[in-house]
Amino acid sequence: MSDAVFQHVSVMPKETVEGLLSTTAGVYVDCTLGGAGHALRIASRLSPAGWLIGIDQDAAAVAAAQARLRDVPCRVSIVHDNFKNLEEILGELGATAVDGVLFDLGVSSYQIDTAERGFSYMHDAPLDMRMDERQKLTAYEIVNTYSEEELGRIFHEYGEERWGKRIAAFIAEMRKETPVRTTAELVDIVCRAMPKAVRRAAAGHPAKRVFQAIRIEANDELSILDASIRTAVRHLRPGGRVAVLTFHSLEDRIVKNSLRDMARGCVCPPGLPVCVCGHRPEIRLLGKAGKPGADELRGNPRAKSAKLRLAEKISGAE
Ligand SMILES: C[S@@+](CC[C@H](N)C(=O)[O-])C[C@H]1O[C@@H](n2cnc3c(N)ncnc32)[C@H](O)[C@@H]1O
Repeated sequence: MSDAVFQHVSVMPKETVEGLLSTTAGVYVDCTLGGAGHALRIASRLSPAGWLIGIDQDAAAVAAAQARLRDVPCRVSIVHDNFKNLEEILGELGATAVDGVLFDLGVSSYQIDTAERGFSYMHDAPLDMRMDERQKLTAYEIVNTYSEEELGRIFHEYGEERWGKRIAAFIAEMRKETPVRTTAELVDIVCRAMPKAVRRAAAGHPAKRVFQAIRIEANDELSILDASIRTAVRHLRPGGRVAVLTFHSLEDRIVKNSLRDMARGCVCPPGLPVCVCGHRPEIRLLGKAGKPGADELRGNPRAKSAKLRLAEKISGAE
């Protein structure tokens, strides 16, 4: 994997890095290293006393990031792992207190644009969609072995696809004869399951939601989010920050709720004369979710649905 072919334009780079950095000698964790776009910006601002820890479950991202972070002034540790293991990763590195943690969720443009990874409805390739190619579960397994009901639920829940049940029924019918092997075959089934008028009126590609749903299921993207963000916050030093970039409403809802919950003080039922719960906020939310500006969107349309959420650890909450 050559560094030159790893194409990904970082989203809201200035706002994210400015929002995260508080000290040039700090420890910063990028949980979704990708091509090290954000990470390079962070690491370039750190002093030799600073430390950048980068995590990615994709071997291609790890290789690209290693090359890009070769000449930065600070210490760098790159870990090929899932950020759901953040606790263990930080423990093994001996980095129990950190100054900032970044999550730039979802897939990179490199993953989508590399046809053979099978993430894209635009390129024909075997159904795969694994970010971590060491993992067993693939999109092929999901499409060909999940029950019709499970598929319908996934399309509805993770794709918010109102034609999910019908698409699942079409898949179940098709695979009776022969397995659905490629992204093009899946696109064809989705298109046939949707009434023509709906297909024509669809915002974006008609198969977009089904592909998003299968990708989320294949990589178990949502169930790990809340616990991972809480782990990150637990390891922040007072004044340390967490930054989360989300790209669709499902993940944004989870992130918003986790951060709001940790920012809440008393959780006693209303009406009690004095607080009995003793619950204290761990973090302070830093404003509302930020969105990319018009200039950024002109240069990077894929940033369209991005939201940046920032929060700061409260002193005394550690
Ligand atoms: C949007 S890209 C990050 C791009 C990066 N911030 C940049 O500017 O170059 C997301 C990356 O996170 C990785 N990723 C997604 N979920 C992950 C997880 N649970 N654990 C580790 N890496 C993950 C993907 O493999 C992908 O490389």
